[in-house]
Amino acid sequence: MPESFFVLSKDYLELAIDEITAIAKMYDRFSKIKIISNLVIIQSKTNVDKIARRATFVKTSGQILRKMSGLFLDEENIGVLKNAKSFVCRVINLSSNQFNVPELESSMGDMISKFSHAKVNLENPTITVYLIFTNNENFFGFSKRTKEQIRPKKIKKYPHELDWKLTRVMINLIGIKKGETICDPFCGTGTTLLEAESMGIHGIGIDFDKKMCEIAKKNLKINNYHSEVLNSEFHELSKISEKFEGIVTDLPYGTASKTSEKPQEILKKFFSILPKRKKVAIMYKKEMDFNSKLNGLKKYHIYRHKSLTRTILIK
Ligand SMILES: C[S@@+](CC[C@H](N)C(=O)[O-])C[C@H]1O[C@@H](n2cnc3c(N)ncnc32)[C@H](O)[C@@H]1O
Repeated sequence: MPESFFVLSKDYLELAIDEITAIAKMYDRFSKIKIISNLVIIQSKTNVDKIARRATFVKTSGQILRKMSGLFLDEENIGVLKNAKSFVCRVINLSSNQFNVPELESSMGDMISKFSHAKVNLENPTITVYLIFTNNENFFGFSKRTKEQIRPKKIKKYPHELDWKLTRVMINLIGIKKGETICDPFCGTGTTLLEAESMGIHGIGIDFDKKMCEIAKKNLKINNYHSEVLNSEFHELSKISEKFEGIVTDLPYGTASKTSEKPQEILKKFFSILPKRKKVAIMYKKEMDFNSKLNGLKKYHIYRHKSLTRTILIK
């Protein structure tokens, strides 16, 4: 079974690890996952790029060619470079040992040049060859050049809109597949709908503020996306629950956007009408979870500043 590696950003490491695990399991439930700090090794029949394209916090990814006991390269290892026009060598040192990384990269480049016709290209190589060091194991891998992903556009930025990375991670944590539908009952400017559609997931947004609905519609239009937006109260979701597989939303905080009533009351009522047997990822201000009463499968706390810690709850 092919093995891939993913080096994750350390910004939200727990979220990042759970996200990549959820994506790998969504595509292939028999995937085997090994976590070495911010390095994740996945044994799966799913192509490495398919997993990396869905994920939010992957810095570098590639296919593993072999585990190494020492540092050596032979012709068999660089077979991948046979038809490549250009390459670059990169050392990822996740061990506690100190290496002279530029020197190691350049001597690895020299070694490879002896076996292969590929030329070194530091800017835009066809193949990147990786040496990954951890405290227990070292890996030798590579990645092929891929097209950069196009991010959804927005007509304008608003202070209350949700960070696209957290939105995307919530969609991935509940394993919504391409072709399925999610509902955001507090859709605001439509961040969830945009992220969902960029992954081939259909969206239904609800917002009681007509102005927000118009903004969300405009945001969808400039991207040529087709998610629906309903100008209604969040309760509407109960009537349309057969139309979606999951709920992903960011509840009102009572600061930058309008609210129909106190945010804590909204959260309580919303929680009580959540349809059963749906995947749910919701975000709210931590303090609104009075006595930590809201329960689910897992909670993440995201510290933003002194007066704002957000909770993501997966249900
Ligand atoms: C935190 S904002 C959502 C931001 C959104 N995720 C974005 O990226 O723009 C909460 C939204 O809930 C809406 N809202 C407040 N009370 C509501 C209610 N009772 N029913 C539906 N929407 C409501 C507000 O108009 C606001 O757009």
